[in-house]
Amino acid sequence: MRVTARTTLFVIFGDPIGHSLSPAMQNAALQAAGIDGLYVPWRVKAAGLSAALEALRWMENFGGANITIPHKEQAVSLVDEVSPEAASVGAVNTIVARRGRLVGANTDGRGFLRSLQEDGGFVPRGRQAAILGAGGAARAVAWSLAEAGIAEVLIVNRTVERAESLASLVSQRHGVSAIGLGLGDPRISRRVADCPLVVNTTSVGLSPSDPPPIDPALLRPGMLVFDLIYRPPETALLREARVRGCQVLGGLGMLLYQGALAFELWTGRKPSEEAMRTALNQALA
Ligand code: ATR
Repeated sequence: MRVTARTTLFVIFGDPIGHSLSPAMQNAALQAAGIDGLYVPWRVKAAGLSAALEALRWMENFGGANITIPHKEQAVSLVDEVSPEAASVGAVNTIVARRGRLVGANTDGRGFLRSLQEDGGFVPRGRQAAILGAGGAARAVAWSLAEAGIAEVLIVNRTVERAESLASLVSQRHGVSAIGLGLGDPRISRRVADCPLVVNTTSVGLSPSDPPPIDPALLRPGMLVFDLIYRPPETALLREARVRGCQVLGGLGMLLYQGALAFELWTGRKPSEEAMRTALNQALA
């Protein structure tokens, strides 16, 4: 491609950033849409995020930004406006410039929900779900399940205090029945077994030698087990779940859909998801 002074720039800020598949996916979408744009990964340390975002205001050919690990929470206080979703989740993963103001949005929750419904065929309304983990990703998942009418949420986390605090947030904000338990709590065995949906939001599984984040004996045939991790494509959790007759879903769909929503916020156009998916698969291969 030819980069000129008229080329619109898109960036992703994170630290580390080398692993990100967003540049491959978003550049493919820009190209397929015939947009003169370039999406670049930029490593920014936490101490520099404020200055980096400030710089975006001055770049007249700025088209939009993504924010990733570990900056999503910090970005909430650094933008001029926060969308209702980003405020609820407490994290910004997408920034749009509107009349010189930076607007922070969050597309992770809706990306998750779309994958759950379209790829997993799961209807949350009136059902129960177990969420493993209680960090930023767990908050986005809990928010979107609550929005979609889930009846009951069980949050299981290594640090029980974080599980309890997310559970009380979910029940206060959304009126969903929620309980937070520690990983070693004897009550989790019966409660997880009752859930038709189990979602892993922890980082356990990112390394191929990681064990499953929960005892696989708790998984039952017919459950949907959704791991937000997309690399490796099959974590130990998904392997164990598959062997036990569960339906399994990895994180690639969510990655694609949150990116497609961000693209739409920046450009006002729906991207070619086929081009994005092809680029993702190539980058992973
Ligand atoms: P993210 O924003 O991606 O969710 P995070 O906020 O750092 O990242 O949360 C990481 C989650 O993975 C947490 O729920 C964390 O558990 P703690 O709250 O106890 O820290 C979980 N996690 C990370 N490493 C883990 C491990 N080795 N065993 C169990 N849980 C782990």
